[in-house]
Amino acid sequence: MQTLSTTSLQVRDNQLWILDQQALPQQKIWCPTPDVATLVGHIKALRVRGAPLIGLSASLLLALLAENGMPQARLADALEVLRASRPTAVNLMNNLDRMKLALAQENFVTALTFEALRLVEEDKALCNSIAEAGNALIKPGSRLLTHCNTGGLATAGVGTALGVIALAHQQGKVANIWVDETRPLLQGGRLTAWELGELGVPYQLICDSMAASLMAQQQVDAIWVGADRIAANGDVANKIGTYSLAVLAHYHGIPFYVAAPHTTLDRHCPNGAAIPIEQRDAREVTGVAGRFGDVQWAPDNARVYNPAFDVTPAALISGWVLDTGVVTPAQVAGGIFQPRV
Ligand code: MRU
Repeated sequence: MQTLSTTSLQVRDNQLWILDQQALPQQKIWCPTPDVATLVGHIKALRVRGAPLIGLSASLLLALLAENGMPQARLADALEVLRASRPTAVNLMNNLDRMKLALAQENFVTALTFEALRLVEEDKALCNSIAEAGNALIKPGSRLLTHCNTGGLATAGVGTALGVIALAHQQGKVANIWVDETRPLLQGGRLTAWELGELGVPYQLICDSMAASLMAQQQVDAIWVGADRIAANGDVANKIGTYSLAVLAHYHGIPFYVAAPHTTLDRHCPNGAAIPIEQRDAREVTGVAGRFGDVQWAPDNARVYNPAFDVTPAALISGWVLDTGVVTPAQVAGGIFQPRV
């Protein structure tokens, strides 16, 4: 396969490399990803993360395994193992459905490579279209709040919600970005803060619990988040803490926008209650683990609830900013996301 390089994915020497998003921003470590078990490990540990990026990394690995001689039947098994690696972001399943069609072809090696590279190029274009559509909603002097990480690290392109913010900044419309640190794994504090710094966007990092008082003080003009799955009724699964922001925005009369590519839409999922929510290791909440050292502050026997995502009901969303344009609450109520007949 040709050499390929995005913010957090590379293909070189016929191998997939991922930028370890658990080591950022202090260390830039590129991890070799030669096989399915390694990629599944990276995905589960959130070394590679973000709805679009998970799907792209799985697709690229399948294509590389095919090029390196893996037979069709084993590739089919590998595809299903990758599909099961994380349950909530539907981009993974949508991308792998397309890879499965390529795998069924007689010339499956060429077809898989073609499809994986096409998915990467499409994602870049989807990000640009989302940024254009979202930018039209941003007023000069905006103070925006974002949650988790939705930038170039999480996609092959400029990102989703963060791509909108970056474009609005280029046009001189951003006064300040409030960055939720995003407990427990700190995607905001580590990744979004780093990306905004690289882009030169003015930001201030806050603990998640500080958002309410900022809204009460009229310091937030709009909230911009990404999505891991959009159900047919417009309900949105995104990083845990998103729902609280939507409730707060509703109370304070602040617009709440969800930015995502159409690959995040699941027309066959009727509503948020049907979205599978990943539950994660208790140690993410009882302390911090890994490169920060293993620090535990909770008692040894603390019982923990640690869902990675929550569901924001459609009624709390002001607009779904897709690559195809801004979808309004009236359009969602009219069934625009329902299965096509
Ligand atoms: O657990 P993560 O870090 O993969 O969660 C990521 C999010 O919730 C993002 O908001 C979402 O995937 C959109 S990324 C463009």
